[in-house]
Amino acid sequence: MNTVTPNPKSQIQNPKSRRRLAVLLSGRGSNFEAICDAIADGRIPDAAIVAVISDVADAPGLNRAVERGLNAFPIPREGLSRSEHEEKILRILDAFETDLVLLAGYMRLLSPRFIERYRGRILNIHPALLPKFPGLDVQRRALQAGELESGCTVHFVDEGTDTGPVILQRRVPILPGDTVETLSARILQEEHRAYPEAVARVLEGLPLAR
Ligand code: GRF
Repeated sequence: MNTVTPNPKSQIQNPKSRRRLAVLLSGRGSNFEAICDAIADGRIPDAAIVAVISDVADAPGLNRAVERGLNAFPIPREGLSRSEHEEKILRILDAFETDLVLLAGYMRLLSPRFIERYRGRILNIHPALLPKFPGLDVQRRALQAGELESGCTVHFVDEGTDTGPVILQRRVPILPGDTVETLSARILQEEHRAYPEAVARVLEGLPLAR
Protein backbone atom coordinates (compact mmCIF):
# COMPACT_ATOMS: atom_id res chain seq x y z
CA MET A 1 0.00 0.00 0.00
CA ASN A 2 1.47 3.32 -1.03
CA THR A 3 0.74 6.21 1.21
CA VAL A 4 0.81 9.57 -0.46
CA THR A 5 2.70 12.08 1.63
CA PRO A 6 0.23 14.57 3.06
CA ASN A 7 0.67 17.69 1.07
CA PRO A 8 -2.43 19.85 0.90
CA LYS A 9 -0.99 22.10 -1.79
CA SER A 10 -0.38 19.20 -4.19
CA GLN A 11 -4.10 18.55 -4.73
CA ILE A 12 -5.47 22.05 -4.63
CA GLN A 13 -4.90 24.62 -7.32
CA ASN A 14 -7.03 27.23 -5.68
CA PRO A 15 -6.85 26.74 -1.93
CA LYS A 16 -8.95 29.75 -1.01
CA SER A 17 -12.01 29.08 -3.13
CA ARG A 18 -12.33 25.32 -3.40
CA ARG A 19 -14.53 23.38 -1.03
CA ARG A 20 -12.50 20.66 0.66
CA LEU A 21 -13.95 17.20 0.97
CA ALA A 22 -12.55 14.28 2.94
CA VAL A 23 -13.76 10.71 2.45
CA LEU A 24 -13.80 7.96 5.08
CA LEU A 25 -14.19 4.43 3.73
CA SER A 26 -13.60 0.83 4.75
CA GLY A 27 -14.01 -1.15 1.54
CA ARG A 28 -14.67 -1.08 -2.17
CA GLY A 29 -15.04 2.68 -2.55
CA SER A 30 -17.48 2.85 -5.46
CA ASN A 31 -19.33 5.79 -3.90
CA PHE A 32 -16.02 7.56 -3.36
CA GLU A 33 -15.26 7.07 -7.06
CA ALA A 34 -18.70 8.33 -8.06
CA ILE A 35 -17.97 11.52 -6.11
CA CYS A 36 -14.53 11.87 -7.75
CA ASP A 37 -16.17 11.55 -11.17
CA ALA A 38 -18.82 14.11 -10.28
CA ILE A 39 -16.14 16.59 -9.23
CA ALA A 40 -14.25 15.94 -12.46
CA ASP A 41 -17.29 16.54 -14.70
CA GLY A 42 -18.58 19.56 -12.80
CA ARG A 43 -21.66 18.08 -11.12
CA ILE A 44 -20.00 18.98 -7.82
CA PRO A 45 -18.55 22.38 -8.70
CA ASP A 46 -15.59 24.07 -7.11
CA ALA A 47 -14.64 21.17 -4.83
CA ALA A 48 -11.66 18.91 -4.24
CA ILE A 49 -11.08 15.71 -2.31
CA VAL A 50 -8.24 16.59 0.02
CA ALA A 51 -7.93 13.30 1.90
CA VAL A 52 -9.17 9.72 1.72
CA ILE A 53 -8.92 7.91 5.04
CA SER A 54 -9.54 4.26 5.77
CA ASP A 55 -9.58 2.17 8.93
CA VAL A 56 -8.77 -0.83 6.67
CA ALA A 57 -5.21 -0.53 5.41
CA ASP A 58 -5.78 -2.62 2.28
CA ALA A 59 -9.24 -1.33 1.41
CA PRO A 60 -9.66 -1.33 -2.40
CA GLY A 61 -11.07 2.19 -2.18
CA LEU A 62 -7.84 3.45 -0.65
CA ASN A 63 -5.88 1.96 -3.54
CA ARG A 64 -8.23 3.72 -5.95
CA ALA A 65 -7.45 6.97 -4.16
CA VAL A 66 -3.72 6.39 -4.61
CA GLU A 67 -4.26 5.60 -8.31
CA ARG A 68 -6.15 8.87 -8.67
CA GLY A 69 -3.25 10.77 -7.11
CA LEU A 70 -5.14 11.72 -3.98
CA ASN A 71 -3.85 11.88 -0.43
CA ALA A 72 -4.61 8.43 1.00
CA PHE A 73 -4.27 7.60 4.68
CA PRO A 74 -4.56 4.10 6.09
CA ILE A 75 -5.42 4.51 9.78
CA PRO A 76 -5.95 1.00 11.15
CA ARG A 77 -7.71 0.73 14.48
CA GLU A 78 -5.52 -2.13 15.80
CA GLY A 79 -3.74 -1.27 19.05
CA LEU A 80 -5.58 2.04 19.46
CA SER A 81 -8.50 3.01 21.65
CA ARG A 82 -11.50 4.42 19.83
CA SER A 83 -10.60 7.94 20.89
CA GLU A 84 -6.94 7.56 19.88
CA HIS A 85 -8.06 6.25 16.49
CA GLU A 86 -10.51 9.09 15.98
CA GLU A 87 -7.96 11.65 17.15
CA LYS A 88 -5.62 10.54 14.35
CA ILE A 89 -8.41 10.97 11.83
CA LEU A 90 -9.44 14.34 13.24
CA ARG A 91 -5.86 15.56 13.01
CA ILE A 92 -5.87 14.80 9.28
CA LEU A 93 -9.27 16.45 8.76
CA ASP A 94 -8.16 19.55 10.65
CA ALA A 95 -4.78 19.70 8.88
CA PHE A 96 -6.54 19.76 5.51
CA GLU A 97 -9.09 22.34 6.65
CA THR A 98 -11.89 19.99 5.68
CA ASP A 99 -15.26 21.54 4.89
CA LEU A 100 -17.24 18.32 4.52
CA VAL A 101 -16.62 14.74 5.67
CA LEU A 102 -18.18 12.04 3.49
CA LEU A 103 -18.70 8.58 4.93
CA ALA A 104 -18.67 6.19 2.00
CA GLY A 105 -18.93 2.65 3.30
CA TYR A 106 -17.13 3.56 6.52
CA MET A 107 -17.96 0.67 8.82
CA ARG A 108 -17.37 2.29 12.22
CA LEU A 109 -19.65 4.40 14.33
CA LEU A 110 -18.30 7.85 15.11
CA SER A 111 -18.21 9.01 18.72
CA PRO A 112 -20.30 11.96 19.91
CA ARG A 113 -17.06 13.91 20.33
CA PHE A 114 -16.11 13.38 16.68
CA ILE A 115 -19.58 14.32 15.50
CA GLU A 116 -19.57 17.46 17.62
CA ARG A 117 -16.27 18.58 16.06
CA TYR A 118 -17.76 18.37 12.55
CA ARG A 119 -21.43 18.92 13.40
CA GLY A 120 -23.50 19.48 10.24
CA ARG A 121 -20.47 18.66 8.11
CA ILE A 122 -20.59 14.84 8.06
CA LEU A 123 -22.68 13.01 5.44
CA ASN A 124 -23.41 9.31 5.04
CA ILE A 125 -25.04 7.16 2.40
CA HIS A 126 -27.21 4.25 3.45
CA PRO A 127 -28.67 1.55 1.17
CA ALA A 128 -32.27 1.74 2.41
CA LEU A 129 -35.11 4.22 2.67
CA LEU A 130 -34.50 5.55 6.17
CA PRO A 131 -36.03 5.59 8.73
CA LYS A 132 -36.78 2.07 7.53
CA PHE A 133 -33.91 -0.39 7.98
CA PRO A 134 -31.12 1.46 9.76
CA GLY A 135 -27.98 -0.55 10.62
CA LEU A 136 -26.46 -3.49 8.79
CA ASP A 137 -27.54 -6.11 6.23
CA VAL A 138 -30.39 -3.88 5.16
CA GLN A 139 -30.96 -5.22 1.65
CA ARG A 140 -31.58 -8.69 3.08
CA ARG A 141 -33.87 -7.27 5.74
CA ALA A 142 -35.89 -5.32 3.14
CA LEU A 143 -36.34 -8.50 1.09
CA GLN A 144 -37.30 -10.55 4.13
CA ALA A 145 -39.84 -7.94 5.19
CA GLY A 146 -41.59 -8.33 1.83
CA GLU A 147 -41.08 -4.68 0.87
CA LEU A 148 -42.08 -3.69 -2.66
CA GLU A 149 -39.47 -0.96 -2.92
CA SER A 150 -36.21 0.10 -1.38
CA GLY A 151 -33.55 2.64 -2.27
CA CYS A 152 -30.88 4.78 -0.72
CA THR A 153 -30.68 7.73 1.63
CA VAL A 154 -28.05 10.45 1.98
CA HIS A 155 -28.24 12.04 5.40
CA PHE A 156 -26.35 14.17 7.87
CA VAL A 157 -24.68 12.12 10.58
CA ASP A 158 -25.76 12.58 14.17
CA GLU A 159 -25.14 10.53 17.31
CA GLY A 160 -27.66 7.82 16.41
CA THR A 161 -27.28 4.93 13.97
CA ASP A 162 -28.47 6.28 10.59
CA THR A 163 -30.80 8.76 12.29
CA GLY A 164 -29.58 12.18 11.11
CA PRO A 165 -31.62 14.57 8.93
CA VAL A 166 -32.26 13.24 5.42
CA ILE A 167 -30.83 15.22 2.48
CA LEU A 168 -32.24 13.09 -0.31
CA GLN A 169 -33.53 9.64 -1.12
CA ARG A 170 -33.86 7.61 -4.29
CA ARG A 171 -36.24 4.70 -4.72
CA VAL A 172 -35.92 1.43 -6.62
CA PRO A 173 -38.48 -1.33 -7.05
CA ILE A 174 -38.01 -4.73 -5.44
CA LEU A 175 -38.73 -7.22 -8.20
CA PRO A 176 -39.95 -10.82 -8.00
CA GLY A 177 -36.94 -13.12 -7.78
CA ASP A 178 -34.62 -10.43 -6.41
CA THR A 179 -31.70 -11.63 -4.33
CA VAL A 180 -29.55 -9.61 -1.96
CA GLU A 181 -27.08 -9.26 -4.82
CA THR A 182 -29.51 -8.06 -7.48
CA LEU A 183 -31.22 -5.65 -5.13
CA SER A 184 -27.91 -4.32 -3.80
CA ALA A 185 -26.69 -3.71 -7.35
CA ARG A 186 -29.90 -1.83 -8.27
CA ILE A 187 -29.63 0.33 -5.15
CA LEU A 188 -25.91 0.95 -5.70
CA GLN A 189 -26.58 2.43 -9.15
CA GLU A 190 -28.87 4.96 -7.51
CA GLU A 191 -26.34 5.61 -4.74
CA HIS A 192 -23.82 6.67 -7.35
CA ARG A 193 -26.23 9.36 -8.57
CA ALA A 194 -27.65 10.33 -5.20
CA TYR A 195 -24.43 10.93 -3.27
CA PRO A 196 -22.91 13.46 -5.70
CA GLU A 197 -26.24 15.26 -5.99
CA ALA A 198 -26.58 15.50 -2.21
CA VAL A 199 -22.99 16.70 -1.81
CA ALA A 200 -23.54 19.43 -4.40
CA ARG A 201 -26.75 20.48 -2.68
CA VAL A 202 -25.14 20.66 0.76
CA LEU A 203 -22.08 22.52 -0.51
CA GLU A 204 -24.27 25.21 -2.04
CA GLY A 205 -25.45 26.25 1.39
CA LEU A 206 -22.38 25.46 3.45
CA PRO A 207 -20.09 28.19 4.74
CA LEU A 208 -16.43 27.21 4.36
CA ALA A 209 -14.82 25.81 7.50
CA ARG A 210 -11.98 28.34 7.42
C1 GRF B 1 -22.87 1.25 0.09
O1 GRF B 1 -23.93 0.37 -0.16
C2 GRF B 1 -23.28 2.30 1.07
O2 GRF B 1 -24.62 2.64 0.98
C3 GRF B 1 -23.02 1.64 2.40
O3 GRF B 1 -21.84 0.90 2.21
C4 GRF B 1 -21.72 0.55 0.82
C5 GRF B 1 -20.39 1.08 0.38
O4 GRF B 1 -20.09 0.73 -0.96
N1 GRF B 1 -22.92 2.60 3.47
P1 GRF B 1 -18.82 1.35 -1.67
O5 GRF B 1 -17.61 1.05 -0.79
O6 GRF B 1 -19.05 2.83 -1.80
O7 GRF B 1 -18.72 0.67 -2.99
